[in-house]
Amino acid sequence: MVKLGYIMEKKYFIVTYGCQMNVHESEKIAGILKEMGYSAAESENEADIIVFNTCCIRENAENHAFGNIGALKKRKRENPDLLICVGGCMMQEKDMPSVLRKKFPFVDVVFGTHNLYELPALIERRLSSKKRGVVSVLENEGGIVEGREPVRTSFPNAWVNINYGCNNFCTYCIVPYVRGRERSRRPEYILDEVKRLVEQGYKEITLLGQNVNSYGNDSGLMGFPELLDRVASVEGNFRLRFMTSHPKDFNEELVRIIAKHDKICNLIHLPVQSGSDRVLQRMNRRYTSGEYLEKVKMLRRIIPDAEITSDIIVGFPGETEEDFEETMRLVHEVNFASAFTFVYSKRKGTKAAEMPDQVPEEVQKERIMRLIELVNSQTREKSEKYVGKVVEILCEDFDAKKGYYLGRDVYGRMGYFKSEENKIGQFVKLKITEASGISLYGEEV
Ligand code: SAH
Ligand code: SF4
Ligand code: F3S
Repeated sequence: MVKLGYIMEKKYFIVTYGCQMNVHESEKIAGILKEMGYSAAESENEADIIVFNTCCIRENAENHAFGNIGALKKRKRENPDLLICVGGCMMQEKDMPSVLRKKFPFVDVVFGTHNLYELPALIERRLSSKKRGVVSVLENEGGIVEGREPVRTSFPNAWVNINYGCNNFCTYCIVPYVRGRERSRRPEYILDEVKRLVEQGYKEITLLGQNVNSYGNDSGLMGFPELLDRVASVEGNFRLRFMTSHPKDFNEELVRIIAKHDKICNLIHLPVQSGSDRVLQRMNRRYTSGEYLEKVKMLRRIIPDAEITSDIIVGFPGETEEDFEETMRLVHEVNFASAFTFVYSKRKGTKAAEMPDQVPEEVQKERIMRLIELVNSQTREKSEKYVGKVVEILCEDFDAKKGYYLGRDVYGRMGYFKSEENKIGQFVKLKITEASGISLYGEEV
């Protein structure tokens, strides 16, 4: 082909699986690719480079990634210049990079969560050698890289990392193996980032860590309550959230800081995982259901309008019907705003994978259906109470198909409304006229 005196801009597309941590990491990958001269593609089809940012928390997350990577085989054959890169938590699993290369030899570059910033060098290596399957996955985490600009994709919401990795080793969980030990960012970097985001017009900041409450344990520089206090003291009109809080470290000092600042949303994500003490112990969660309930009570005593969301696992090895009933009782008692419910998934290399009495799939399925029913009924009941009330939402998007603007209130509930003007990035007061499932519909007041 004759080049017409200009170079066509190359485009990237990133496919993300997993948690907010990964969503934000994809924004960092986008930042890296932008620095390399790539721009964002609207779809996978027009991309010159496709990056998969994978998750391995449960087996089905892995199967999704495998399916979508495999689906590119034909396109890669038709267009050998298309670059396919695979990174993320899955690539940090022992042996996974070689499994991937065997399954999908057409993949160009494999990288891990510990060496995200090596991506340009790996792409260069691939392009200069013409040899496929450039692999670089580091076993040990390095230091924290600062001063790189992500390409943020969720305005007016912004994610800010405060600590990386996890030291808790819950027996079902693979995160400590693929994300390494806890490392905290220095407080001044976090505060600087938040100040800049607020100046740029971001209206909701979420502080991210696998266990935010252990912020500073490694560095000894500052604990989470003090950090939260300082971030909430940054001037400007914005909401502040954080996730995830491990119940064992959730305490009154932290709750008092939440109560002190209007900016901090009174919605706390506090994953309980199970209501049975026997199961909690085997999960190595280091709290009992009684202690969890005490913390919920303490939170509601200090902040009466606080709401709680949670993560719950059913069918953990050895979970009996009685254990499961205890989970149901706890859910009844706490009355969660909402909860993510998961069927236990065996992860190779974790302690629980070796435990006897793995629960049969039919039993797991039957239990999760009952749990979902209960959680949904609590969520629905709360939604219905919204009808007739005025709530403030932060408008974050426009649903072109439905013709509605949408945004969340402080409790994370999605509110839909119609408007002639573009309201994205603004706080909007809505009078709720209808509740449908967990969605609220309203009119601007
Ligand atoms: N660090 C956070 C999030 C961890 S992953 C925390 O501790 O809460 C998010 C959720 O995935 C967990 O809370 C847990 O409920 C679920 N999860 C983790 N490993 C799992 C597994 N092997 N099977 C099923 N669910 C799992
Ligand atoms: Fe996994 Fe437990 Fe760490 Fe959360 S606290 S990431 S569930 S090991
Ligand atoms: Fe998140 Fe999945 Fe990794 S839940 S930390 S992307 S294993």
